[in-house]
Formats: sequence, structure tokens, C-alpha cells
Amino acid sequence: MTATVSPVSRMSVPGLPLPDLYARVSRHIPAIEWPALAPDIEAILRLKRERNAVILAHNYQAPEIFHTVADIVGDSLALAREAVNVDADVIVLAGVHFMAETAKLLNPSKTVLIPDMAAGCSLADSITAADVRGLRAKYPGVPIVTYVNTSAAVKAESDLCCTSGNAVAVVKSLNAPRVLMIPDEFLAQNVQAEIPEVEILTWAGHCEVHERFTPGDIRDVRDSYPGVTVIAHPECPPDVVAESDFSGSTAMMMDFVLQKRPSQVVLVTECSMADNIAAANPDIEFIKPCNMCPHMKRMSLKNIRRALETLTHEVTVDPALADRARAAVERMLLVR
Ligand code: 13P
Ligand code: SF4
Repeated sequence: MTATVSPVSRMSVPGLPLPDLYARVSRHIPAIEWPALAPDIEAILRLKRERNAVILAHNYQAPEIFHTVADIVGDSLALAREAVNVDADVIVLAGVHFMAETAKLLNPSKTVLIPDMAAGCSLADSITAADVRGLRAKYPGVPIVTYVNTSAAVKAESDLCCTSGNAVAVVKSLNAPRVLMIPDEFLAQNVQAEIPEVEILTWAGHCEVHERFTPGDIRDVRDSYPGVTVIAHPECPPDVVAESDFSGSTAMMMDFVLQKRPSQVVLVTECSMADNIAAANPDIEFIKPCNMCPHMKRMSLKNIRRALETLTHEVTVDPALADRARAAVERMLLVR
């Protein structure tokens, strides 16, 4: 699911620069801080026109990116799908490296930029192409489904990819009795709970943000806020998902909140998710806990501006593996 940039929910503040954009983020950015941000936003909007560029931003981006300069926002699946349709010369990926690499795989002729090359992911770091070749040798004939949170080299060794938004459908589409699902152990276990008829083998990779949540966190929040709705990302441990009312990709979490409109909700995921929904939905109260992803938080208005000014840092994929990695992503996009 793709969310478009949210409608203005607050009154503009006269006297501030870019008042209509400020209205979108005024719940999170004090008016006194806005004049320091506005010049970078103005420059980014101008540079996008001059460079014929679009900004794809993940749902975990901070409100000042998500609500003011992003052209397309969404979960990993939406960003991959939208990357195919982008009509621009330059794509700036406000997210993490694997997302930019996926956009490049799907747009080999376009310039794909990431504002900070160090924006990685603990899941992508948990497995190498050699590891996947080892699994292939150990489990001959077992299809390998690889989470998109991996390098292109790992994707190239895989049969097809999945995201948290389509993992169940992707595994089902294989009609196989046994599937290797790598590298997120918890996502694989959460999918296993939904498809007991398939034996799912996994790898011991974890998201450093979601592995820290515990069932005790959920019980504590329910004790303090009786009736609260709890929504957990499927990268959380299965005992956390089991304590929750709903689990899904970041876009599915957002859709659930916008449709059900619970009065109090906890999003067991990265903190900017709640901020981005709250910015346009003041009637919904978001309760902690949440955790920050240090990689997602490497993106800033300043480095997005610099990326557009200098056309850096360009993301490329080794031509020796690009075709195989692209095929794994494209097979995933065919699964509905
Ligand atoms: P989504 O695909 O659900 O947006 O998740 C990406 C991610 O990195 C979550 O930690
Ligand atoms: Fe990776 Fe977790 Fe950060 Fe998502 S939240 S980018 S899975 S480390």
C-alpha cells in the first residue's frame, strides 16, 4: 500500500515560512525550530524540479521528511512497486541501503541516490551470498525466499524475495512442502504460525529495533491503558506478535489504524510511524513503547539536500549479479 502525503490537518501559522507545509508537522516540530528547517525544504523542492527527481521515503522517516519533501511514501513493498513506475531521471531513497539497491535493480537506467551510504540494516548484515550458497547445498531442492532487507548479492542467490507485506502470499505461491525463509528468524516464525502446513526453515537474523520488544512490554501497556489497541510489526518476536491485536507491514499497520481509528494505540515498531500518523490524525492517541532505527535516522533534510545538489551518493549494483537479483525481486512483484 502506498500512502500519499497526508492532508493538512492543522491551521497554517501566519508569519512562518512555508506555512502550509508547517501545518502538516506542527504537532511534532515546535514553531521556533521551523525557520531553521524551511531553507533546506525550499532548496529540496527547487532541486527536485531542476534535477527531475523524486523522493521515495520509507514510513520510518521523520515527519519533516515524510510530510514535506517526500513524493511517495510507503512500506518496502510499495517503494519497490513505485520504483518501477517512477517517471524521473533521479530517485532519492530516504530509507536504508537495501531499499535504494532494490530501486536501482528495478530502474537500471536511472540515477538512484541515498543521502548516507552508511544507512544499513542489521538483517541485511546478518547473511552473505556465501551463506545462501551453503544453505542451497545443505537443502537441495528447497526453495529460498529472501526478505528484501538483504544485499543484492544475497538476492541473486535466492529464488524470490518477499517483504513483510506479502511474505505469507509469497510462501503460499510456491506450493512447496518445505521453504527456506531467510534471514529474519522472527518474520519466518510469524509466517510459520499462519501457514502450519508448510515447513519453514530459517536463519538467525534479527532486526535490532524489533527484537528488543518483549511480551512484558505489551502486558505493561495493557495494564496501564485498558482497551488500548496493540499493533506489532512481524519482525517482532512471535511471543510479542501473539500478545498483539494485529500484525502487518508498516503500510498495513498504518491502514489498520486509519480504518479502525482506535482512540488509543501502540505501534510496536519504529517511533516515526506513530509520529507520521499522528501528524494528520490528532484524534488518535499513540502510546509508547517504540524504538528508533539508527539507520533510518541517518536521513535528514540536510543530507537529502546535499544528495540533490551533488548527485551523491549513487547506488550501483554489480552487473555480474544484477540480473539474478532483479529476477528474484520481479518474481516477488508478480505474487498478488
Ligand atoms: P516494511 O516493509 O513493513 O515497511 O518494513 C521495512 C523495515 O525495515 C521494517 O523494519
Ligand atoms: Fe533494518 Fe530493523 Fe532498521 Fe528496518 S528497522 S531498517 S529491519 S534495522
